[in-house]
Amino acid sequence: MTTPPSNSPPVTHGLILETRTLTWADEAACAGFARGLAAQAGISQAFIELHGPLGAGKTTFVRYLLRALGVQGRIKSPTYAVVEPHRLPDGGEVSHFDFYRFNDPREWEDAGFRDIFARPGMKIAEWPALAGDMLPPPDLRLVIEPLDGDYRHVTATAHTPPGVALLQSLLG
Ligand SMILES: Nc1ncnc2c1ncn2[C@@H]1O[C@H](COP(=O)(O)OP(=O)(O)OP(=O)(O)O)[C@@H](O)[C@H]1O
Ligand SMILES: [Mg+2]
Repeated sequence: MTTPPSNSPPVTHGLILETRTLTWADEAACAGFARGLAAQAGISQAFIELHGPLGAGKTTFVRYLLRALGVQGRIKSPTYAVVEPHRLPDGGEVSHFDFYRFNDPREWEDAGFRDIFARPGMKIAEWPALAGDMLPPPDLRLVIEPLDGDYRHVTATAHTPPGVALLQSLLG
């Protein structure tokens, strides 16, 4: 059975080394932030967690990020498959997870998720809290809170030194 997701704040496993808050006034601002992140050195090896309620804009953000990184073709939401793989133009691997429907910890081994996290490449996870304690600490965590209309309040935290470098070079 699927565990109902909660809207409570994410469990912050791992130290928070750096925090920035920002506002996306509209979807174009989300796209602009994604393009800025895509331009950072180290992004192709980052693990990014995306928190926020249904419809917050997690998948939308990933689509802009992957497009900016040169991913072609349809970028499907991984809601049903749990993971969607993508290739960067340089051959780098991107694994886009959505753990909303993840409910069997054995799947972590059986579906090869452990192997994915052991390999180089970029990992992005929606609903990471539903993966329990399987996930390593992320480099970056974005918590997206919908406000009125298209406004989004975004809290970005870095949990590793590479995450700090990404955040500082992106947001100063
Ligand atoms: N500022 C914004 N940033 C991102 N998306 C926005 C913004 N304003 C409006 N939207 C819209 O909000 C919706 C977000 O849907 P999306 O599928 O990305 O949410 P999600 O967080 O991935 O939800 P789920 O938990 O169901 O996977 C899209 O229709 C998008 O066009
Ligand atoms: Mg989504």
